[in-house]
Amino acid sequence: MNLIEYLDRDALMIGTAEAVIRDLEASISDNERASLAVPGGTTPGPVFDQLARTDLAWEKVSILLGDERQVPAAHERSNERLLRERLLIERASKATYLSIREEEGALPNIASALPISVLLLGMGADMHTASIFPGTKTIDLVLEAQTPLMKVDAPDGLEPRITLTGPVLKNARHCHVLITGDEKRAALTNAMELTERVAPIRTVLDTATVHWAA
Ligand code: 6PG
Repeated sequence: MNLIEYLDRDALMIGTAEAVIRDLEASISDNERASLAVPGGTTPGPVFDQLARTDLAWEKVSILLGDERQVPAAHERSNERLLRERLLIERASKATYLSIREEEGALPNIASALPISVLLLGMGADMHTASIFPGTKTIDLVLEAQTPLMKVDAPDGLEPRITLTGPVLKNARHCHVLITGDEKRAALTNAMELTERVAPIRTVLDTATVHWAA
């Protein structure tokens, strides 16, 4: 694991956005196109703000969520809503948005985005990432799934989710994890000693760059 510690959260958000842009540029120069998968939740908004205003060949980029909560797209807990408000705007509005939401009872085909060029993930203090949660009924299936997307359950009365599956996370060309605070930092250190089943973030830790500030 490559861990970058920043002096404060402003520097963290800027540094993470710069790393994502560098990897997108490299992917575009290698393949003429790139895909970017991003997390929802409360942490990445300022990174999205930075990305949206950055000059890049966004028309060559497909953007998708790494996971979505099964609520209407306009719901305040919808990750798509966050994306539409903070990332798919300004310069980044030229990117193609690939929805991972269920349509007419089926999950969409995201083969055109695979392997993911740049994967940005968040993590919970319980060591979940995307919507791969320890202790859920679907944990073993989602870690090994042959399909890129899967519908999964979530703990503690949280709404069910749709998530990228373990192999897709593992096969991403570049992976960055964005976390804040001492609790998540301790959880991350702990995860290095645990299995993916108990600590799903472990799926990417051998290759990911983790960006952290207190
Ligand atoms: C989601 C996520 C999830 C998130 C972590 C961290 O939809 O909930 O994509 O994996 O990244 O739960 O969330 P916070 O940034 O809110 O702590």
